Amino acid sequence: MLIDRFGRRITNLRIAVTMKCNLRCFYCHREGQANGEESELSVSEIAEIARAFYDLGIKKVKITGGEPLLRKDICDIISSMPPFQEISITTNGTLLAEKAEELRESGLDRVNVSLDSLRPETYRRITGGDVEKVVDGIKTACEIGLTPVKVNMVVMKGINDDQVEEMVEFVSSMNRDGIRAILQLIEVLKLPGLERYHLDISGIERKIASKAEAVLLRGMHFRRQYSFETASGNAVVEFVKPVDNSEFCAHCNRIRVTSDGRVKPCLLREDNTVNVRGLKGEELLEAIKKAVELREPYFRD
Ligand code: 5AD
Ligand code: SF4
Repeated sequence: MLIDRFGRRITNLRIAVTMKCNLRCFYCHREGQANGEESELSVSEIAEIARAFYDLGIKKVKITGGEPLLRKDICDIISSMPPFQEISITTNGTLLAEKAEELRESGLDRVNVSLDSLRPETYRRITGGDVEKVVDGIKTACEIGLTPVKVNMVVMKGINDDQVEEMVEFVSSMNRDGIRAILQLIEVLKLPGLERYHLDISGIERKIASKAEAVLLRGMHFRRQYSFETASGNAVVEFVKPVDNSEFCAHCNRIRVTSDGRVKPCLLREDNTVNVRGLKGEELLEAIKKAVELREPYFRD
């Protein structure tokens, strides 16, 4: 088991498999990776790194991007994973409907889908793309069991902060018999240029909390998850509030790998990555342990 100097257990791995994306979300943090010029890891390089993390006790892996479904060999990447407890993907959902079945057959357990608005004009303003395909993708994923599908909504002041209710209803409508979809409301990071969109979503959380029949406190990031009935079905809503939140960082169990093969101890830092590309065996394990030593909470008291 990997544990850092702050007593945080590392249980979750996120591997970025490409920096390419077919959308242009104006808020995109690009998984904290500065540039996308470097060449992508191959399937066997990804498999080697994933295996090392597995041997060191990592339980769950999430494949991220850019947009991971743009990789032609995405199914090979999934089927090359060691037997993690859970393999998931974070996708913008535009290509999900057509690929969902094949992804599941390759061993994918579930998906996170970015969807900040159900309104075509708002969706286009944020991402430059079409919302219909994404909604289709979410429905398909729910139907074929890539569940729970987590729908990621980044809440931004003056853009979509008036649309939380309709997103709650949408997700609820997937949950008429059994929980298939969960809405994650995400506070936008205050990256340069994004300050004016930043909204403390604690107000929204208080409103939802007042309706909740059950609250779950998750280990990961100390996130709270609320369940309640709506007109459309059953809602499950989780809050992701990293900004200036020392409790969030104190309970961070993740580590990342960039698309060019660097272990990245923190989303919000580029200065402490450890290159593991080409390393094998004991050398690879040692480099990963070194990166874990470099982990530090970004927000602290
Ligand atoms: N702030 C918060 N979340 C972000 N994401 C991307 N950029 C930001 C940001 N600036 C998250 C979104 C998206 C996922 C790929 O990364 O949740 O769904
Ligand atoms: Fe960034 Fe994801 Fe939007 Fe693509 S879909 S631009 S990777 S947030």
